[in-house]
Amino acid sequence: MDQRDGFSNKFGVIAAAAGSAIGLGNIWRFPYVLGQNGGGAFLLIYLFFIVAIGVPVLLSELLIGRKAQQGVFGAFRVLAPGFKFFKIVGVMGVGAAFLILSFYAVVAGWTIEYTVLATANQLGDKSPAELATLFSDFSSSFWRPLFYMVVFMALTAAIVMGGVKNGIEKYSKILMPLLLLIIIVLCINSVTLDGAMQGLSFLFKPDFSKINSDVILEALGQAFFSLSLGMGIIATYGSYVQKKENLLQTAVSVSFADTLIAVLAGVAIFPAVFAFGIKPDAGPGLVFVTLPNIFNQMMGGYFFAVGFFILLFIAALTSSVSLLEVVVAYITEELKLKRKKATIIGAFLITVFGIFCVAYPVLFTSFEWTTSNILLPLSGILITIFVGWFLGKKQTRAELESHGSKIRMIGLLMLILKIFAPIAIALVFLNNLNLI
Ligand code: PFF
Repeated sequence: MDQRDGFSNKFGVIAAAAGSAIGLGNIWRFPYVLGQNGGGAFLLIYLFFIVAIGVPVLLSELLIGRKAQQGVFGAFRVLAPGFKFFKIVGVMGVGAAFLILSFYAVVAGWTIEYTVLATANQLGDKSPAELATLFSDFSSSFWRPLFYMVVFMALTAAIVMGGVKNGIEKYSKILMPLLLLIIIVLCINSVTLDGAMQGLSFLFKPDFSKINSDVILEALGQAFFSLSLGMGIIATYGSYVQKKENLLQTAVSVSFADTLIAVLAGVAIFPAVFAFGIKPDAGPGLVFVTLPNIFNQMMGGYFFAVGFFILLFIAALTSSVSLLEVVVAYITEELKLKRKKATIIGAFLITVFGIFCVAYPVLFTSFEWTTSNILLPLSGILITIFVGWFLGKKQTRAELESHGSKIRMIGLLMLILKIFAPIAIALVFLNNLNLI
């Protein structure tokens, strides 16, 4: 994304932002984190955070980027000269992108392994117990996960070097709706399994006794992770949005698409979890253990399995490209290296961290936890404070209305950005640390 040529139309922006947002976070992470955090109660809090904090932060990032016509580092320099402090948002974003990609690439590698297994028809003849063993043997081994992780990082680097927009975003406009279609077919098959009701009520019937400070923090972290917030990715896309576009509508559409995919993934997975006697809190392997069971029960399951894992892999790729882009933009802008060199160095260092994630699951888990639950929401506080207090109502309104029609509810939006979002995020942190 060297050239600031602008997206040709609204669909271009939505597709690019959704390409970053929709990924493993929706299909791999959302169901397993929900499964570990009490089901329906988690879903309810998650949805609340998406609407009350996710959409406003997404909107703020788009707004900052478009107003400044710069990526995240430059944006704060242009909009708040003299307040060097806000540079920290960019710095935290780069750190988070680096750490996220190092575990994200490992999981993306699993999708390659599962594409290979599905294609070779090695999932088709297995019982639920055998599928569980298959996953745990594979994910706790070293060389194969490592190999696929490296392959995935090499592909990500190749795409970032070649330019994002011309290549895979064009394809993802066709492929992502296809992924949605497969998920819907999976949902239909899943809810018709024996014992599906139990899964649906786990997902949709909140058990309020399950709510505690961990559940709340996980829901907040997942909202940031899933919408790709807190690291300037969306701000960079915002800088390519034309003034005639309605930013609020864009923010709502992206958030809606992202949430829809996550909830549908839940509908596909939980009925099957209960039908096949899998534990909902099985952890990061949940999707990889559950879905093959549904494929095995379906007509044409072989083809759906192959198609699904390929598309999941592509969804992961469109997200990882946006993550590597943040790191590369930092290296080119701050260290003044050429793009190609920056990509190779960035991808290489992330791969090294990825190797540690493969070897030490505790690192994998702690990178995942710290980035989504701490770094991203912390940037979120600063982003909302920046738009709420520094830009203020007049500038915010002017930018949001640049397409020529009035935005309603600006008062509510400012209230959220100035007061509600920063305080709510801070309270979630403090509560989780047992400080309140
Ligand atoms: N939002 C992506 C997903 O849900 O898979 C993951 C991700 C991409 C997180 C980019 C953060 C980010 F900046």
